[in-house]
This record gives sequence, structure tokens and C-alpha cells, in this order.
Amino acid sequence: MMWLAVLVGVAALVWVGPAGGQGAVGAEVLTEGKRLYVENGCYTCHGLDGRGNIGPDLTRTTKSDEEIVARIANGRAGTAMTPFRDKISAEDIRKIVVYLRSLARP
Ligand code: HEC
Repeated sequence: MMWLAVLVGVAALVWVGPAGGQGAVGAEVLTEGKRLYVENGCYTCHGLDGRGNIGPDLTRTTKSDEEIVARIANGRAGTAMTPFRDKISAEDIRKIVVYLRSLARP
């Protein structure tokens, strides 16, 4: 149930904005997150199920949401993980994190 709390928290972060009020259903954010994950080619290194191949398994990451957001935005120098901050908006990165959390396994 912990993940649900995280999910709702992140979803709230994503949707509380100037447009606010338009209640966002978690499911929509999830679908969007998945689409963004595929469209941006994350799956080529992390797998469609997020379990990793060239890149690490994202379903068992020990990172916090903030750390994941930062890693996606800034990448990691010297690795295949390039920065995505110019390609994906901060809001869309949040959606990807919601999607990744939905894949989490113990
Ligand atoms: C060309 C291969 C490649 C692509 C494409 C790629 N990654 Fe990565 N990613 C890596 C590698 C390699 C690492 C390991 C570097 C590190 O964090 O130490 C990594 C690390 C990460 C981490 C940190 C995981 C952890 O627990 O340390 C996250 C989160 C992540 N990637 C998400 C994404 C997302 C989301 C996308 C798509 C927007 C993406 N990656 C695209 C190769 C890739």
C-alpha cells in the first residue's frame, strides 16, 4: 500500500498546477507515464518491463522520487544514461516516475 501513497502523492504534484482543479485520475497519469517511457526510448536500455538490460533494473531502485527525477533530468556523466531535461518536461518526468513506481517489486 506504500506505493499507492507515493503514487497519489506524485500524481498530486503533477496535477496541482495553474490548471488545477481538473481532477486527474491516477490511471491517466500512469498511461501517460508509460507512453513517455516508450516514446523516449527508455525501454531500449531499461526494458519494457523496467527490469533492465544495458541500464539497471528500475523496478528495484532504492532511489527516492526526487533522486529518480534528478537522474532522468541530469543523466549520469560517463554512463549511457544521458540527460533528458531538454527532451522531457519536468511534469512529464514526474509521470514517468509514477509509471516506474507502478512497476516496483520488492
Ligand atoms: C542508452 C541507454 C539508456 C537509456 C536510453 C536510458 N537509460 Fe536510464 N540508465 C542507463 C544506465 C547505463 C544507467 C546507470 C547509470 C547510473 O545511474 O549509475 C541508468 C540509470 C537510470 C536511473 C537510475 C536508476 C538507479 O536506481 O540508480 C533511472 C531512474 C533511469 N536510468 C531512468 C531512465 C529513463 C526514465 C529513461 C528514459 C527517459 C532512461 N533511463 C533512458 C541507461 C539508459
